[in-house]
Amino acid sequence: MKTETIEVQGTGFNLQDYEEARRTFSWSDVEKVFSWYETGKVNMAYEAIDRHAEGERKDKVALYYSDAQRDEQYTFQEMKAKSNQAANILHKLGIKKGDRVFIFMPRSPELYFSLLGAIKLGAIVGPLFEAFMEGAVRDRLENSEAVAVVTTPELLPRVPSKDLPALKHILLVGDNLDLEQLNKEHPTVQLHDYHKEMADASTAFDIVWVDKEDPLILHYTSGSTGKPKGVLHVHYAMLQHYQTGKWVLDLKEDDVYWCTADPGWVTGTSYGIFAPWLNGATNVIRGGRFSPEDWYYTIEKYKVTVWYSAPTAFRMLMGAGEAVAERYDLSSLRHILSVGEPLNPEVIRWGLQVYKLRIHDTWWMTETGGMLICNYPCMEMRPGSMGKPFPGIEADIIDDEGNPLPPYQMGNLAIKVGWPSMMRKIWKNEEKYNEYFRLKGWYISGDSAYKDEDGYFWFQGRVDDVIMTAGERVGPFEVESKLVEHPAVAEAGVIGKPDPVRGEIIKAFISLRAGYEPSEELKEEIRQFVKTGLAAHAAPREIEFKDKLPKTRSGKIMRRVLKAWELGLPTGDLSTMED
Ligand code: PRX
Repeated sequence: MKTETIEVQGTGFNLQDYEEARRTFSWSDVEKVFSWYETGKVNMAYEAIDRHAEGERKDKVALYYSDAQRDEQYTFQEMKAKSNQAANILHKLGIKKGDRVFIFMPRSPELYFSLLGAIKLGAIVGPLFEAFMEGAVRDRLENSEAVAVVTTPELLPRVPSKDLPALKHILLVGDNLDLEQLNKEHPTVQLHDYHKEMADASTAFDIVWVDKEDPLILHYTSGSTGKPKGVLHVHYAMLQHYQTGKWVLDLKEDDVYWCTADPGWVTGTSYGIFAPWLNGATNVIRGGRFSPEDWYYTIEKYKVTVWYSAPTAFRMLMGAGEAVAERYDLSSLRHILSVGEPLNPEVIRWGLQVYKLRIHDTWWMTETGGMLICNYPCMEMRPGSMGKPFPGIEADIIDDEGNPLPPYQMGNLAIKVGWPSMMRKIWKNEEKYNEYFRLKGWYISGDSAYKDEDGYFWFQGRVDDVIMTAGERVGPFEVESKLVEHPAVAEAGVIGKPDPVRGEIIKAFISLRAGYEPSEELKEEIRQFVKTGLAAHAAPREIEFKDKLPKTRSGKIMRRVLKAWELGLPTGDLSTMED
């Protein structure tokens, strides 16, 4: 079979030879990089920040932050001091090791200080995307029994404190706060003024040492059924973050690295916080919304060298055209990567033309905590392929009984269990956790794929109904549940509909209750209802009214039939469908 390949660009990359690395690599060698290998004292925040602050990188810029209003920078030493202050505030509130501390705010330096501060205390951090509305926030805080939330006055109304008995403290990041008044609206919790507390907090803090297997972070993510799942990762994940940062992101001492993901999603923590700082790299955080001009400006302003983003963003940049790219000096870029959805060969070709660089696809999931299948700077690329397993990772395509399949046969993309950043738990849901490991010795990703005869993996789709829209993972069940809360909606079925820019868009099929008539106004009203009740990115872009939805005899809406209708494909086996 003839495959398009793209040759390796440049020389001198960290991972010189992929095959050689696969033969010789062992995770236990990576342990030697960390201070705890000598001291026995573990904490992710120490390795990511304090270790550098106490060494030669102390005056190196760790964080460049900017948005429309702010333009700041912090050295590793300053990051250490700020995160110590945040840890002291949380400590004063009585937050202890193992407590869940949620961070619900837009990107800002304070988000990063608080997140690191909570980790220094041994707490479990739960980052929440700022677009979540009250219902989504409630689900996550309720399930995790969070004791504290760091948020802003603007987002505070979406924290339903009275419904959350475990919640004791809210730390507000904002100016001129009227705590007395706000406390009246939130009588069951104590509100605190972040800036005031910071001003009084000491910059010294005795970090709380933890075990390698102690929990670090809780990321909620969607499946095809049920409420969002709390995926729990441990401090030991740092091995994976560090080593993939070195060999896939190819981070070197002088790099200026920009990961465009928000820390509300796993890419924004594993590769927006941990991987770059474990490697002592300078990290760029740009607040505010996406625009092609703003993104190119960011690369130019900071002379970004390594850039990690998502197919949906690259497609939007492609849509904006080459002329926009030409207005900016992008010559600092030397390495580009992508994650989250299939990276179209067309985008890779465009990248070669406009950025003069390859865009390297990487595959992984919230549950895997770090990259597993990647394209490496040292490896020939086959556009459309996710690449090959990271050294130390065994991936394969298996059938439903766990038998490995030959090349080109599509099946379950599975990973041999036991890599450092593998999730350790689904919070309070052992059954869901065990489902991933139902075939002995394997982690079942829920993606279908095939491998070619040279060991490149090719993504084919999701096995379940999970929707990937603009790089964000949305569970159809969550959207359907919100839709049926609307008084006009009797039943709803939600699918991902292929879209050239967003990968998929959310489409809802809805049957109306008696007394309601289909109309464009009603569609808009329903859309707004999901937007304000759940999250903007979860609102259906398309709504179609149906008299009746296809259901199984047990009453389960058959999304696969809806999808077949939408795509004009055969509906397949309908034996379980009600008449
Ligand atoms: O379907 C795969 C898709 O994103 C899913 C994981 O989503 P999430 O947990 O939100 O994490 C996204 C970022 C780590 C996967 O099951 N996905 C991720 N990367 C790729 C991908 N699909 C195709 N190609 C990729 N490179």
